Amino acid sequence: MPMGQVMVKNNRSLPCLCVGILVLLLAGCQGPQSALEPSGPAAGEIALLWWVMFYSAVAIFTLVFALLMYAAFRKPEKRRQISPIKFVVVGGLAFPILVLSILLPLGIGVGSGMDRLTPPETLTVHVTAHQWWWEVAYKGGPNDLDFNSANELYIPVGQPVELILESADVIHSFWLPRLAGKRDMIPGMTNRLVIEADEPGIFRGQCAEFCGLAHAKMAFYAVALEPEEFFRWAENQSRPQPASLEDEGARLFAQNGCALCHTVRGHQARGREGPDLTHVGSRKTIGAGLLPTSPENIALWLSRNDKLKPGNRMPDYVHLSQEDRLSIARYLESLE
Ligand code: CUA
Repeated sequence: MPMGQVMVKNNRSLPCLCVGILVLLLAGCQGPQSALEPSGPAAGEIALLWWVMFYSAVAIFTLVFALLMYAAFRKPEKRRQISPIKFVVVGGLAFPILVLSILLPLGIGVGSGMDRLTPPETLTVHVTAHQWWWEVAYKGGPNDLDFNSANELYIPVGQPVELILESADVIHSFWLPRLAGKRDMIPGMTNRLVIEADEPGIFRGQCAEFCGLAHAKMAFYAVALEPEEFFRWAENQSRPQPASLEDEGARLFAQNGCALCHTVRGHQARGREGPDLTHVGSRKTIGAGLLPTSPENIALWLSRNDKLKPGNRMPDYVHLSQEDRLSIARYLESLE
């Protein structure tokens, strides 16, 4: 191809590439995990701080670029009208001090809003990070709740919820961008975060601190419900699920060692290594946000979880027949 044609082709593809990159970047500004689409007061303040910093950065960049052009194209004898000492003192000292004096208190104010004091009757949820899933325990609060769940955080709309954040192994970080900022979960330490949702909805959260092989697949969903719906959900989650002796899936679940790592309240399963499965059928996903809950996906998870989520601590149940895996999966899916 002649050189001229190559250049014309490149000239056309460059704007297309730029538009493509811009569309991809803008697509990240919304969705269930976007900090720029806040759905609660703490996230709203963070988004505002982000926009203040963005527009300040644009203004400062424009100013610096104008000065650069001035230095490059103005005649040297005219440029000498600006004293170098004054330029360094104003541009290099006074101006940064002014900018940082405005941004620092703004940032500290936004940060302290994330663990503000809450009234004693506030709902408290204990979230413990494990490699690579989330233990979610509801204890006490206005309705004296007492049950465990995993990988899903249900909250009532329009009221603050206090999260007590801990880690069972390494450092993780709790990040629910549409409701609040990040907070680290450090072994041996207890951190606190206050979240609040303005509207009902489903928001995606993600571990935000590298914590090992399956870090990228350590997600969760937060579901904000109207208060009466939330308490109906909580009442259902408190209910034990006694297993019927005729249920083949429940029998296989007990026989094949699942009960050593998982709990199903009402069943003999009392393990604490893995997620509590008492109401796993009511959850939107399995594997910490990995796959939608369905008998087929649970059976797939039983046979190939280490391929779906490399590093996952659960053994693959390849030695079971597909029929047995489906029986266990149907039993688990029935635990709503
Ligand atoms: Cu847990 Cu990254």
